Amino acid sequence: MHADAVGLMAESTMQVRVKRIGYEAESINSYELVAPGGGDLAPFTAGCHIDLHLPNGMIRSYSLVNEQSERKRYVVAVNRDAEGRGGSRLIHDTVRVGDIMTISHPRNNFVLQENAAHSVLIAGGIGITPLLSMIRRLEALGRSWELFYAARTRFAAAFLDDLHALRPSVHQSLHVTFDHAPLGRKLDLAAIVEGAPAEAHLYCCGPLSMLKAFEAATTARPATHVHVEYFKAREKPAAEGGFEVRLARSGRTITVEPGKTILNALLDAGMIANYACAEGVCGTCETRVIEGIPDHRDQFLSAEERAANKTMMICCSGSKSTTLVLDL
Ligand SMILES: Cc1cc2nc3c(=O)[nH]c(=O)nc-3n(C[C@H](O)[C@H](O)[C@H](O)COP(=O)(O)OP(=O)(O)OC[C@H]3O[C@@H](n4cnc5c(N)ncnc54)[C@H](O)[C@@H]3O)c2cc1C
Ligand code: FES
Repeated sequence: MHADAVGLMAESTMQVRVKRIGYEAESINSYELVAPGGGDLAPFTAGCHIDLHLPNGMIRSYSLVNEQSERKRYVVAVNRDAEGRGGSRLIHDTVRVGDIMTISHPRNNFVLQENAAHSVLIAGGIGITPLLSMIRRLEALGRSWELFYAARTRFAAAFLDDLHALRPSVHQSLHVTFDHAPLGRKLDLAAIVEGAPAEAHLYCCGPLSMLKAFEAATTARPATHVHVEYFKAREKPAAEGGFEVRLARSGRTITVEPGKTILNALLDAGMIANYACAEGVCGTCETRVIEGIPDHRDQFLSAEERAANKTMMICCSGSKSTTLVLDL
């Protein structure tokens, strides 16, 4: 059974009403979500995302694009992904103004370092969403920032008007390239990183190829100053199976058969598990490891966190030991 097909979750959720849907660019709509009875929503910080719980049981994460001081609304922007498993298509095709939706509380895996002397932000396509909220925050704090934003064409680039509305001189901080336009070119990530001051914090969110190039270009920078957010998986989940998972809290032991992830095996055994993306990018399923060596396949944990083996993402990571003891 695929994880998407199962609606077992323990994550705390809330209901919101869709107040407005906006056209932001080719295939990108924004959704403004408010508390159904008015009033404040849970606070959030720049870089946060929420999970939308879709009527077919899928859970998909979306970054908040509005300013973190706003308490009455969350705004997300969804790119309609024709290649995917259907979550973003369902949102575009079925969500209407006035609908009630179930969402998670905001979570932040892509934290803005507010005190940085300078921030360099690099966005590819829909990857602009968390960076936009960060830029709004940096503007509110009066901090120095620069955005390098690549989109296929002008029509595919969301939020250019919002960026230009920030302040009259914003063009000094804004470098936009349209790589499918006549005379268009790709961002030169190595040159951008080389040109950034040594103390700058660098952020990147975009397609896998961009994230890979960014990671290669920043190897000489301190890891504390380099920040990435993956929207999709870089590698396939570990489904080799052939090991046991002992659940310390419930006392149960589950065999993970070949062809299954740990999450699949738990859900098939009727266990309740927290998950959203089911592909190792959102962090929802992070679980404490009590014993055993995980085979990490996620894009969420840092290299140090992976090496420490204190937690793992059960939706996509497997086991290098014959038994894993998990805090479940
Ligand atoms: C923290 C976070 C924040 C995000 N913020 C945004 C945002 O602001 N805006 C936004 O539009 N999206 C965002 N995303 C991505 C979003 O959650 C969804 O993944 C996206 O909308 C696509 O969903 P989907 O169901 O249409 O496609 P998915 O099934 O999720 O597919 C996405 C991609 O995975 C690959 N894929 C295709 N089939 C499969 C398969 N069977 N198994 C695994 N992979 C497959 C394809 O390359 C496809 O393009 C975010 C993701 C994360 C983790
Ligand atoms: S469910 Fe998203 S990382 Fe596991």
